[in-house]
Amino acid sequence: MRNKKSWQLIICAAIIIIAANSCKHEPFVLDPDDMTPIDTTTVTPPDTTGSNPVDTSGNSNPCDSSLVYFDTQILPLLKSNCALSGCHDETTAEEGIILTSYEKVIQTGEVKAGDPEDSDLYERIIDSDPDKRMPPPPNVALTQDQISLIREWIAQGAKNLSCEENNSGCNLDGVSFVTDIQTVINTNCRGCHSGSAASGGVFLDNYQNIASVAQSGRLYGAVSHQAGYEPMPLGANKLPQCTIDQIDAWIKAGTPNN
Ligand code: HEC
Repeated sequence: MRNKKSWQLIICAAIIIIAANSCKHEPFVLDPDDMTPIDTTTVTPPDTTGSNPVDTSGNSNPCDSSLVYFDTQILPLLKSNCALSGCHDETTAEEGIILTSYEKVIQTGEVKAGDPEDSDLYERIIDSDPDKRMPPPPNVALTQDQISLIREWIAQGAKNLSCEENNSGCNLDGVSFVTDIQTVINTNCRGCHSGSAASGGVFLDNYQNIASVAQSGRLYGAVSHQAGYEPMPLGANKLPQCTIDQIDAWIKAGTPNN
């Protein structure tokens, strides 16, 4: 009786092992970048027809509006609000925190991927104690939209994503101050150009001030890196060409408050 049961068990186990092993017979290739096996059944074959129906502009990395991109949405925000000289740039590194690159933000900002509430970076920007809240006065606090964006970035896994804007689709008709111009300025410029210590005495904190800098020619001169103007944003990449063209179109339309 005992012996018969043992044999049944051995046969059962053998069947299970054979069945489990069968999935290892799928062909796989190694990705030289990270050496993790990739199942070839899930790899899309390269498009050899030359006519990709999804994106005809040749953009292989289009932006997905449901994702937060560190490169274009989070880093400029941190650079213009936190990585300032005397604060969290590489030289000052206040409290050991450096917010100038992805690696440094994750390490020194103690970002816990997927868990905003347990990430120092997020806790400090929402702190209700004005002595602890970042950025501290005289710098302006982040806007609610900016705080939500940082929260969402951490919740999505604090990834280092980047994407390519589709410039062939750059819309220059009816550029809106609120949705196109102000969002760009809030992300890339407002941190330095507001509060009692606004850089260069240039204020970019509300419609009136932005319109007046725009009408003086300095806004476009600075963002398009024209000779005779300080290239902006300071210490960061030039804005995407579509954004610069939208600023130009908005100025040419008479800087409307639309
Ligand atoms: C990290 C801080 C910082 C950021 C971010 C920044 N600026 Fe500036 N900006 C400065 C400083 C500092 C000056 C003064 C430079 C000088 O006079 O040497 C300045 C000067 C300017 C000037 C005057 C330029 C001139 O030559 O008359 C304009 C206009 C300007 N910034 C616009 C912008 C815009 C637009 C953005 C965002 C796209 C931006 N800045 C982002 C720090 C910053």
